[in-house]
Amino acid sequence: MDDPREPIHAPNPGRGDALLIVNTFGLRPRWTSPGYHAGEVIEDHTHDPWSTWAKESRADYCVASLRKTLPIPDGGMLWSPVGLPLPEAPDITTSHEAAATRKLEAMIIKSLFLSGYQLGKTTYRSLAEDGETGISSKEISAIIPISAVVVECFDITRWRQKRYANYRLLADQLADCKELSVLQLKDQGSCPFSVVLVCQSSSTREHLRHGLLARRVYPAVLWSLEKPVLELPSKSIELSRRLLSIHCDGRYNESDLVRVADAVFESLS
Ligand SMILES: Cc1ncc(COP(=O)(O)O)c(C=O)c1O
Repeated sequence: MDDPREPIHAPNPGRGDALLIVNTFGLRPRWTSPGYHAGEVIEDHTHDPWSTWAKESRADYCVASLRKTLPIPDGGMLWSPVGLPLPEAPDITTSHEAAATRKLEAMIIKSLFLSGYQLGKTTYRSLAEDGETGISSKEISAIIPISAVVVECFDITRWRQKRYANYRLLADQLADCKELSVLQLKDQGSCPFSVVLVCQSSSTREHLRHGLLARRVYPAVLWSLEKPVLELPSKSIELSRRLLSIHCDGRYNESDLVRVADAVFESLS
């Protein structure tokens, strides 16, 4: 992972090359596809499929996983802003349907838990893990019917606004925290994926992570680069060790975010 705060400097893809640009955390300064290029430019808008950048893109192809920003167990989309041909939509496969249904069951259990029901975590974990393994298979499939229904009728605008409001709230609450900074939005047409904390050191990050877990706040490490597939600059690995992501999507309300901010300050005191 390169530094999401920096503008992207990407080479012009040559014939037979594909250049993949990721709007990491929905926080990247906007990037404009080069005019003439022999290869293909693909943009990944998973972290904010409704950004102005995604809407106005001139890339050859854009992709987005939808399950990262919408409350659905599976689903992604592919489009070509410049009108290049797209593959036929696939049929649903039996194995995908079974796996995504397991994920959906896990989501329902978690939702009941968050609503205050006292449920064990064992069933949740095994459904979530089995489902994730199943939908990660290389087989291409359509999404399950319930996901298609949610995409069609869900109030995406309101859900995205809530994420943005939650991001602002937590970022403002943590503005005075000396041990960390919050990755800031560069492009006003974007909505951040999560509140990304940049700690002063990797040991502060680990201290904070343990402190939050002890207070039943579950941050994410996006992403560990300890076993990279490709060779990476050491500054990328160093940065990844200092990052901690706090979910701020529409499941959470103002009091949840205030509790998280308190937990951050308590953990670091
Ligand atoms: C930027 C980005 N693109 C794509 C994906 C893959 O999403 P999925 O697992 O739904 O295919 C992820 C997953 O974290 C991601 O962060």
